[in-house]
Amino acid sequence: MKRIIIQYGGTGDLALKKLYPAYEHLMEKGDAFEVIALGRRFSTRDEFLSEIIRKDAPSSFTDHLDYLYYDMSGNNAVSILTDRLKALCGESDEVEFIYYLALQPSLYEIAIAQIQQVDNQLDCICFLTKKIVVEKPFGFDLESARRYNDILEKAFTDEEIYRIDHYLGKEFMQNLLLMRFHNDIIRRIWDNRTIESIEIIFDETHGVDQRLGFYEKIGVVRDTIQNHIMQIITYLTMSEPATLTPKDIAVEKEKVLRAISPIEEFHMGRYESLGANSGHIVHTPTYAAFKLFVNTYYFTGIPIYVRTGKMQQEAKSLIYIKFKNATKQVMHDDSIAENAVIITIHPELTIDISMNLKMPNTSWKSKPVRFRFNQSETFGANTPEAYEQIVEKILQGDKSLFPTMQEITESWRIVEPMLKDNLPVEVYPIRTLPRFAESLAKENGFTWFD
Ligand code: BG6
Repeated sequence: MKRIIIQYGGTGDLALKKLYPAYEHLMEKGDAFEVIALGRRFSTRDEFLSEIIRKDAPSSFTDHLDYLYYDMSGNNAVSILTDRLKALCGESDEVEFIYYLALQPSLYEIAIAQIQQVDNQLDCICFLTKKIVVEKPFGFDLESARRYNDILEKAFTDEEIYRIDHYLGKEFMQNLLLMRFHNDIIRRIWDNRTIESIEIIFDETHGVDQRLGFYEKIGVVRDTIQNHIMQIITYLTMSEPATLTPKDIAVEKEKVLRAISPIEEFHMGRYESLGANSGHIVHTPTYAAFKLFVNTYYFTGIPIYVRTGKMQQEAKSLIYIKFKNATKQVMHDDSIAENAVIITIHPELTIDISMNLKMPNTSWKSKPVRFRFNQSETFGANTPEAYEQIVEKILQGDKSLFPTMQEITESWRIVEPMLKDNLPVEVYPIRTLPRFAESLAKENGFTWFD
């Protein structure tokens, strides 16, 4: 069967930075598929290749990469695309079309309507199967997500729809599930009898850069909180699934999301302008900090503090799980540190367990010591990038790394208070932590893990 990825947003940031490298690796590894990039930036394939694709890209990739100048608002957009797809099908009797929408959410409706028309016109040429891949954020809010889904489900079955959150393709996320569900010692300490609080820190050094046009309409809540952060929280707090199959995992994740109330304790900020001519005046929030609770039997009462955003001093992505410290009282020693599990995603993937052990030459004095797992030291540096794993699953028709519509809907419900108009937005100097992130910590009696 011939498989063809029809790449909407084919000259956009996501395609260039993440998707083409993933396609290239997969093709080099021997996965057979074609890609046709749709865009308006270049008029010809040659121009597209010379401007966008590395000069030394292997022919195993470039031979399978086509380009079509495509203006969705043009009168004959549908027939132009149909003709090219017919040509790509050639003489094959079995073809799979994978429509990959890496677009502004506001363009989904028109794109899907056109796909439906293309589909009808192609139906007769050979045996066709189809899939549609929709990038995050899926919708703009709860209402539009439902609306887009209704439109999508008129043209595709749920089985054919792949809603993307590339965090599910990340090694640390998959490891989080296995660490929790393949280890008895972890399962016994992973609940509100033992855990005191959880911090999730996702600080990035870059700004919105070339993505200003996209980001300005989106902001931090739609960009990362409604999706990546909510997915991390589900993996941290879900109960054990009956099996590690997509369906069983989804059941448990949905339960977690349904147990989270809309976020009430939150603050947002945007980084200060980098100058009128820099193209970097962002008006939308680029940083947020908040607290939430997962009100399930085993996690209720554990505050989960999140801070995430752009233009920070240091790129830092980690999850800090702090355990209750009864030992301090029992041993009458305030210097005894808490135990912790620290999952660091950036700069490198490590998992530390912090325990107190005896300092030599002291009389009953302990010191926190870390037991470390380092992904690249243990398994080598050849872990596939998230998008590679995601695209591979799409090609295979395996839905294990994709959030369900139910998860997406619940996530919109949770972040909805953060999407209201006219909320206060603190302007923070670049490379500094917004003041509200410190205040959130102070008001809740903790300091962010450093
Ligand atoms: C993307 C967001 O989904 O995730 C970006 O749109 C963010 O704003 C990125 O920087 C972070 O992903 P990663 O894979 O770099 O951790």
